[in-house]
Amino acid sequence: MVADDQVPPSRIPSDSSRDSEAGAGWECGRAGSFVDLLPSAGQVRQFSWRHPGVLWRSRNDWVAKAFGDPSNAVRRAWVRALRERDPGLSFTMRREAKEFSFLLLGDTGEGDRSQYAVVPPMLAVGKDTDFMVVCSDVIYPGGDAADYEAKFFRPYTGYPAPIYAIPGNHDWYDGLRGFMRAFCDLGGAHDPSWRGPLGRAARLLWRRPGPADDGELAAARERYRGEEGQRAFQPGPYWAIDSPSLRVIGIDTGITGGIDRDQAAWLREVSAGPKPKLLLTGKPLIVDDQVRPGPIEGERGTVHDIVADPAHHYVAVIGGDIHNYQRYSRTLEDGRTIEYVVAGGGGAFMHATHTIPKTTVVPEDAFRCYPLRGDSLSRYSRLYAQWLRMKWLALDPGEAAAAVADRLDMGTTRASARDLRPSRRARLVAALLGVPYRHRPRPRLLRLPVRRLPQRFRSEFADWDRPPFFKSFLRLDVTGDTLTISCYGVSGCGEQEDRPPCEDRVTIRLR
Ligand SMILES: [Fe+2]
Repeated sequence: MVADDQVPPSRIPSDSSRDSEAGAGWECGRAGSFVDLLPSAGQVRQFSWRHPGVLWRSRNDWVAKAFGDPSNAVRRAWVRALRERDPGLSFTMRREAKEFSFLLLGDTGEGDRSQYAVVPPMLAVGKDTDFMVVCSDVIYPGGDAADYEAKFFRPYTGYPAPIYAIPGNHDWYDGLRGFMRAFCDLGGAHDPSWRGPLGRAARLLWRRPGPADDGELAAARERYRGEEGQRAFQPGPYWAIDSPSLRVIGIDTGITGGIDRDQAAWLREVSAGPKPKLLLTGKPLIVDDQVRPGPIEGERGTVHDIVADPAHHYVAVIGGDIHNYQRYSRTLEDGRTIEYVVAGGGGAFMHATHTIPKTTVVPEDAFRCYPLRGDSLSRYSRLYAQWLRMKWLALDPGEAAAAVADRLDMGTTRASARDLRPSRRARLVAALLGVPYRHRPRPRLLRLPVRRLPQRFRSEFADWDRPPFFKSFLRLDVTGDTLTISCYGVSGCGEQEDRPPCEDRVTIRLR
């Protein structure tokens, strides 16, 4: 860490969404320079979750949920192939320096405007970092090798250091073929093997991976990320980066969030000892005010148990999968505090935060999110107003913030909304669009047809391509005895691109 007076100008943030509406990007004067980075029209197919073909290509999600997640068995086959190639494989990369920094972007790969909007701000605050991690869902919708050029190599051509990744459910929809080629330089394919009559149905419905042309992939890598400092492979779909001050561990949680027993044994091994640890995971352990412990194949223990074990010395856990930023600062019975972070705002469509109840897993004042719940409600109310052609549904950011504060019985974050009283209309819109009442996760009075759509589809259909995007990314700075996690907001506005607002920051003592 450098002292504040030595911080380069690009890292002195502008107003954040917590300070003003302009800080949230509501008063966007000009579009960011990211528009110049976009491929020219026609070079890339427009990505939209409203396209039936895109949803059909992600169907392995519900096949896995209906017939059983095949990821554990397929991952074992991949690991066997990795061990055949390198019998001494340890899954660990070593860093000699005590001090290092890295960027973390979750859920990146749509290849569209919202992904590119993150690029200039992340280069402004993180070009000097030692490496970057993509935490879950590198490639939408189906993890295909053929999509890596447009959705990974090309967008990050300007980032000078290596990029590592952990796979998300979407990367698993092609059986991890694209991911293993791109990040581990390993070809081949391993199909799921369901048994019995139901297994036949599952095999019929399961989407087969698209073609993987190794020559094309190598050419794309060479074209966009071929510099000496950019070239890097990682040991496997799960890995550790071991430094003298902190061990960063990345796990692969497959399609539905569990890990296989071999990976669990490895995780316990690398979690042992007094060195402080940071876990990166495809699925967050605490999200939307719920603990999702992460099952382990064939046993009662969970990933959450491994993290909470005092012998393992975890200080923080960061997961992707949900496309916004959340931080739960949780103090355990033995007095230790672990930061549970959701960081899935690195490029893809935005998941709502206004549906998060007043928190119970930690006190509300130990919780942070981006976008603020009021901004999320305002953004969604405008979308619904447009789709349903009902102008009265649209709430401006101030009245949305006041309506959220009223339903959750708490204050507003931005001072400008502090004295506003929500109208009856604003309260009704908040209820209709899913703002919980106090601690209750789901309101009862739900009449709009949109409410019948599961949350997942309401957000996925809300993929928008204009500022404010409410994207975010993390910069992590490790010194000999501290870890600082900073969350930067991305609105897509030109004014904020060079000095993106810091929406949250926490410094953790490592000793
Ligand atoms: Fe995702």
